[in-house]
Amino acid sequence: MCGIVGYSGKSDAVSPVLEGLSRLEYRGYDSAGISMNIDGKLCIFKKEGKLDNLKNFLKEKSELSSTIGIGHTRWATHGKVNDTNAHPHGNEDFSIVHNGIIENANVLREELKQKGYQFKSETDSETFLVKLSDEFKQSKDIEQAIIDTFKSIEGNSAFVVIAKNSHKIYSIKRSAPLVCGVNEESGDVYVSSDPYALIGFTTKIYFPGDSVLCIADHRKANNHYSFLDLNRNETKDYTIQQKQMSLNTVSKGKYEHFMLKEIFEQPELVNKLFSIYSEDITSLNEMTKSRPEMVHIIACGTALHAGLVIKDFLERKNRIRVNSDFASEFRYKEPLICKKDVGLFISQSGETADTLACQELCVAQDLKTYSIVNVEGSTLYRSCDYNLLLHAGAEIGVASTKAFTQMALVGYILSNAYLDEPKDLKSEFELLSQAITLILNREEEIKKIARDIYNYKGFIFTGRREQYPIALEGALKLKEIAYVHAEGYAAGELKHGPIALFDESMVNIAIVTKDLYEKTLSNAQEVKARKGVMVILGEGEDSELSEISDFYFGIDYLGLTDLKPLVTNVVLQLLSYHIAKFKGTDIDKPRNLAKSVTVE
Ligand code: AGP
Repeated sequence: MCGIVGYSGKSDAVSPVLEGLSRLEYRGYDSAGISMNIDGKLCIFKKEGKLDNLKNFLKEKSELSSTIGIGHTRWATHGKVNDTNAHPHGNEDFSIVHNGIIENANVLREELKQKGYQFKSETDSETFLVKLSDEFKQSKDIEQAIIDTFKSIEGNSAFVVIAKNSHKIYSIKRSAPLVCGVNEESGDVYVSSDPYALIGFTTKIYFPGDSVLCIADHRKANNHYSFLDLNRNETKDYTIQQKQMSLNTVSKGKYEHFMLKEIFEQPELVNKLFSIYSEDITSLNEMTKSRPEMVHIIACGTALHAGLVIKDFLERKNRIRVNSDFASEFRYKEPLICKKDVGLFISQSGETADTLACQELCVAQDLKTYSIVNVEGSTLYRSCDYNLLLHAGAEIGVASTKAFTQMALVGYILSNAYLDEPKDLKSEFELLSQAITLILNREEEIKKIARDIYNYKGFIFTGRREQYPIALEGALKLKEIAYVHAEGYAAGELKHGPIALFDESMVNIAIVTKDLYEKTLSNAQEVKARKGVMVILGEGEDSELSEISDFYFGIDYLGLTDLKPLVTNVVLQLLSYHIAKFKGTDIDKPRNLAKSVTVE
C-alpha cells in the first residue's frame, strides 16, 4: 500500500528518495511527497497523482538540497486524494510518514482538538504528528515522545520521523513492513517499507521487530543503528540480511512490462528452485517430522489459488485433510482448530495484513505455523516456525505470475517430503521447465487469440479438479489487468446457474485436459450449444475439441501429471497480458490495486 523511503548521509537526499519511491510505484499509490531538512527548517513538497508530478515540481526547485529526507507514496485510506492529505505531514518540529491505519484516530483527534490543536488534513496519520508534538512539548525528548505517541495509537502501522534539530531518522512499526539499511562504506543510512527500494544503495538490511524504535545515525563511526524497546533498553529484536537482491531485478530488460519479464523468468526459476531444495532440506525435514491432523492453508488472492493447488497435492497424494480459506474470512470465523493441526500461510510479500492476522490467531491457539513466502525477512517470515522460500526474486508486476508457479511448486516439494518414500523430482521439474518454455515460444499464437477476443463482454474460465484453481487464477489475472468481468468456475457448476450468462457476447475459456475428459467435454458442448464463444485449452491435437472451439490451443504437457495445472496457467498469464495490452491498460500498475495489501 503506502510506500516509504528515507535517507540520511553525506549526499543529497532527493535523488535516493525519489529513486526509492519510483521503485515503489508498483505498490500502487495516488499521491507522493518528500520532506527535507533544509538549513534547520523542515520543508515539505507533495503532489497528488503520479510521482512524475512531484518530480517535475521538484525540478523547478533544483536549488533545494538536503542530506536528510523522507518520502512517501500514498494509497488513500482516510481522506480524499489531494495534496493536503498526501504525506509527509509536518509542522515546525517534525515531519512524519505513515503506512497503515490508526484505528483510534478519531478519539485521539478529539482529545487533541480539546487541547487546542488544529488539523490540516483529513488523514488518520496526522493524529500521530499532532500527538507527537504534544508529547514532545512536555518531555522535550524526541525518542521518548515517539515511544509515547506510538504507545497511544491502535492498529497496524509503520512510522518514519525526522525532526528539526536532528540528523537522525527514527522509525517504528507494528505489524507493518519496515526495513532499515546502511551502506557500510559510505555510512549512509536508509529506511523503507520495502527492501526493493534499497537495492544498490545499501550493503546491509535490518528487519526490526514490532515496537522497536530504530534510530539511524550516519554520523556514528560504526554502528549506525540503535534499536530500543519501548522502555528504551537496547534490543536485539531484529534480523539482518547481508545478501542483496541483484540490480537486474529493478529493470525490465528487453521486456515492455515487468509482468511479461516475470512470466518469461519461470522456466529458469523452476530449475533453480529444484537445485535449491535438493541441497537444503533442513526446514522440510523439520516440518514433515510428524503428520498433522489437518493443514489450514490460509492466504489471499493469487496466493490462495496456489494454496488450492497445494491442497489438491496434500489431499490426493498424502491423504492429509486440508482446510483452505481466504485470510479475510478465516480470522473472523472462530475456525475449528485442534492442536495437532498446522497453519500454512502463503504469501509473496509476507506482509499481507489479513494473512498475518491469521498467523497470529493460529499461534494464539498453539498451532505450529509454516509459511511459503517470497520475501525473506518479511513479517510472515519472521513470525512462522518454519519457512519455505520461493526464491523467485522481486516480483514487481502487481499481477502475480512467477510467484504463483513457485508457490505451487514449493507446495509440491512439501507434499513430496510428507511421503514415506519421497520421489526424486528432478525429471519432473526439468519437464515442467521445458513445457513452460514451449508455451512461451507460442506467445504469438496466444496473442492472436487475445486480439480476436479482447472486446467481448465477459469471460468465464472453467476447469475441473486440479485445473479448477487455474480457472480461478486465470479469471483473477484478467480482471485485475484488463478491467473486464471474468469469473472462474468448476466446469460442472455451469449448469447450476452461470450458464444463463452465455450468448454470443460471452467467452468461455475452458480447460479440457485428458483427466475427466468426457465430463469436461460435455460441459464445453453445453456452452457451445448456447452460442458461447469457445476458447478451449486442450491436450495436444484433438479433433473433437477443435470442432467445437472457436479458438483451440493444444498444450503439450510432455507427459507431466501432477504439475499440469502450472503449465496451463502460463497460457492464461500470457492471454491476460495480451488482452490487457490490446485494451491499453496500465499492466504493471493496474488501477485501484496495490502490490502488497498491508491494511485489513
Ligand atoms: C494477484 O495478482 C494479486 N495482485 C493479489 O491477489 C495477491 O496475490 C494478494 O494480494 C496476496 O498477496 P501476497 O501474496 O503478497 O500475500
